[in-house]
Amino acid sequence: MNKIELDKIYNEDCLEGVKRIPDESIDCILTDPPYLYLKGQKLERKFDEQTLFADFKRVLKPTGFVVMFGRGTSFYRWNTILSDLGFKFKEEIIWDKGYCTSPLMRLSRIHETISIHSMPKASINKCKVPYLEMKQYDITSIIQDIKRMRSVFTQSKSMEAVQHFLENNCRDTSDSWKANNISISSDITKENRCVSVMRGIEHGMNEKSIIRTDRIECDKFTKFGINSDKRKTGDRCCNVMQSMEFGLNEKSIIKSVRDHYSAIHPTQKPIRLLERLLALTTQSGDVVLDPFIGSCSTAIACVNTNRKYIGFEIDKEYYDAGMNRLNKVISEPKLVM
Ligand SMILES: C[S@@+](CC[C@H](N)C(=O)[O-])C[C@H]1O[C@@H](n2cnc3c(N)ncnc32)[C@H](O)[C@@H]1O
Repeated sequence: MNKIELDKIYNEDCLEGVKRIPDESIDCILTDPPYLYLKGQKLERKFDEQTLFADFKRVLKPTGFVVMFGRGTSFYRWNTILSDLGFKFKEEIIWDKGYCTSPLMRLSRIHETISIHSMPKASINKCKVPYLEMKQYDITSIIQDIKRMRSVFTQSKSMEAVQHFLENNCRDTSDSWKANNISISSDITKENRCVSVMRGIEHGMNEKSIIRTDRIECDKFTKFGINSDKRKTGDRCCNVMQSMEFGLNEKSIIKSVRDHYSAIHPTQKPIRLLERLLALTTQSGDVVLDPFIGSCSTAIACVNTNRKYIGFEIDKEYYDAGMNRLNKVISEPKLVM
């Protein structure tokens, strides 16, 4: 029997394939099994749920996760089986698709559900999502943030306090700081991003050019998270500035629009959505298994985020199309970050 290799997709039944994966060797199982409600679609194959999920438990490390898409009765059943096997239910995420699957539906269904289950020693990562990505569909919320930023000019006490901080490059320990409710903490350096922006505003400079030249705290930014301990500010204007620069905490409803025009599989998931799910549950270099990989979306999310992958797809046509798609991504030149 072939040994399972990393960064490989197998054209075979996952129930057979998963048996060859060594115990406690997988960090995360990110998967989108056949939901078993689409009539007449070849992807809707029943599988032995008990056997497969018991194998999930065997192959996962004690810090591992199962992240699973689903809908309807099968999804509730799967969640119960996982729970009965001793997995801990962690979170539920709603994928807001932003479009309705079929215009014929009486109730326009525009979401799918994702459940996160874990092994005993797992904890979900605290993730930051870039500001505009998080806000891109919500103009009202962006306008709210801009108003909040503008309000610093009308709050003379806040403005004075910030000005004092800028001029002295140190925290004013007098009572006025507390009274003014400007909670810039002492561990913020003189070149903190918020302070730089305040300086930019004061000197009438373009905010964007300041961001480009004064990046010190930004070195700590990564695509999936930052060390937020260093930036404790309670002031709302500062918070808005911080979120613009460092991103916002991931939320339990993720809006991500599926690309209908280039999809090669009927239930293809957006890569960015999968990247965000991996950010919550894995680290760079971790091993991710998708037993129902379809068009190889999970593998592409792994390539993009420096995770290793193992995938299974039973259908030859989907397997070939998925491999073409994955190979194109692998061979594309990448920007060196
Ligand atoms: C819901 S789709 C997954 C789509 C995938 N998330 C994507 O973005 O393309 C489920 C896939 O699992 C495959 N499949 C069904 N039963 C399988 C089995 N026993 N082993 C491996 N693959 C299977 C189907 O052919 C289908 O492509």
